[in-house]
Amino acid sequence: AHAWQRGCWTVGFCSAVCVDVPSETEAVQGAHMKLLCISCMKREEVIANTVVEWFYRTNDGKDVPIYEYRNEKRELESRFQGRLRWNGSKDMQDVSISVLNINLNDSGVYICNVTRQFEFETHRPIITSSKQIHLTVVEEAGEDFTSVISEIMMYILLVFLTLWLLIEMVYCYRKVSKAEESSQENADYLAIPSENKETCAVPVDE
Ligand SMILES: *[C@@H]1O[C@H](CO)[C@@H](O)[C@H](O)[C@H]1NC(C)=O
Ligand SMILES: *[C@@H]1O[C@H](CO)[C@@H](O)[C@H](O)[C@H]1NC(C)=O
Ligand SMILES: *[C@@H]1O[C@H](CO)[C@@H](O)[C@H](O)[C@H]1NC(C)=O
Repeated sequence: AHAWQRGCWTVGFCSAVCVDVPSETEAVQGAHMKLLCISCMKREEVIANTVVEWFYRTNDGKDVPIYEYRNEKRELESRFQGRLRWNGSKDMQDVSISVLNINLNDSGVYICNVTRQFEFETHRPIITSSKQIHLTVVEEAGEDFTSVISEIMMYILLVFLTLWLLIEMVYCYRKVSKAEESSQENADYLAIPSENKETCAVPVDE
């Protein structure tokens, strides 16, 4: 999912290739969880002042600010304090954060609001984007759905390959035995005169 990021950092330029990838929505208790928030800019929009705000929606529907990037990264006072890390990219297309040591009660809705002010000569437009991540924290890692799918695909492929191999073998066997048969016939045919000379017998058909 983050191939483009690695591409960016190793090659050094990349803003043209930004793909908006939705965040994972399941985390395992005690693990780190990256809340993925990607906010793509067009290449020509690169000079922009970007403000990122992260919120957590409480049970009573309030959006509590938990993290912000406004000139600098800052963890805000909340029950998450001390467990949040900036996990975004320098070009501010990826503005993700990570929650360390995640708890069951960290399940819920996270909101990532990005505000960009562009510095054009004549005007300074402001563009905002907002993303919600509905996170579920589970006690243990269940079997990943995609891994189950790929396992099933692997078995189907295996059965298919075996069948194909069998069919191919039968087909080849037939071809070979046919070829043998006909070469046998040829051999018989060629053998006739010499055999006839010696025994004068009529060749026996198989
Ligand atoms: C995100 O955080 C994890 C854990 O701290 C770290 O291993 C990883 O390198 C970080 N990735 C980025 C893009 O900062
Ligand atoms: C969430 O769970 C942790 C550990 O189980 C506990 O320390 C913390 O107080 C809980 N927070 C809330 C808001 O319930
Ligand atoms: C986040 O952005 C959305 C869309 O612009 C806006 O409706 C919402 O009020 C913002 N949330 C907060 C807490 O500022």
